[in-house]
Amino acid sequence: MPEHGRRPYISGNWKMAKTLSQARTHIEALLPLLPAGGGIEVGVCVPFTALEAVVSAAAGSDLRVCAQNMHQQDEGAYTGEVSAPMLVELGVTGVVLGHSERRLHFCETDRGLQEKVPAALAAGLQPILCVGETDEEREQGDMERRLRSQVQEALEKVPLERLAEVVIAYEPVWAIGTGKSATPEQAQEAISFVRALVGDRSRPAAEAVRVLYGGSVKAENAAELLGQPDVDGALVGGASLDPDGFAKIVAAAAP
Ligand code: 13P
Repeated sequence: MPEHGRRPYISGNWKMAKTLSQARTHIEALLPLLPAGGGIEVGVCVPFTALEAVVSAAAGSDLRVCAQNMHQQDEGAYTGEVSAPMLVELGVTGVVLGHSERRLHFCETDRGLQEKVPAALAAGLQPILCVGETDEEREQGDMERRLRSQVQEALEKVPLERLAEVVIAYEPVWAIGTGKSATPEQAQEAISFVRALVGDRSRPAAEAVRVLYGGSVKAENAAELLGQPDVDGALVGGASLDPDGFAKIVAAAAP
């Protein structure tokens, strides 16, 4: 465990990839490649259709199985949506919220996330809240303003005593799926800023909260990014689809 006591966390985000049978095959290949001992928390965020199969394939291991979205209400007339209690009953233990692809293509808003993040916690799911600026915002010097509004709004209704349980993923939009990762210095700068924003509400929570980096993480650049003092792990898209590549990223997180 690093000195600050934050356990490294590496999670794959499969996005809209893998059918149920492909998901099962992937988990069977991945599990033997993961380090034993639990020093690193490892998760996979999988499509709804594969959740039950992945929970079952991962049974008896420490692999955390997460969804990629949820609705803030427990039930109701919301056609096509899935709620936290539905996920919990499947054995799911976490959920990605506010991914930039959901913000861009599916009208996810900071206001909506203000309901979703506490709803996930209340149901017993670990939220992975995604934040990050576009390249235009970065070029215009608006990165901090964007991160501030995303973090403050989404965490506003999280009870102080549960703040440290939220995982935040800093994912600059310009680095997602582009092959152009942030530099380790850029990741460190933005992530220490995100931590400071949490500190505006609670100093102890800021020390304890885990902030991950996401955006074109691969086996080749993982160690450098994860070596930064405030970078507590990674949310990995494309490179998590291959068990060997993903396992190499997990290995790079060893303290
Ligand atoms: P890539 O690793 O494919 O850039 O995706 C990052 C991401 O969006 C993870 O949530």
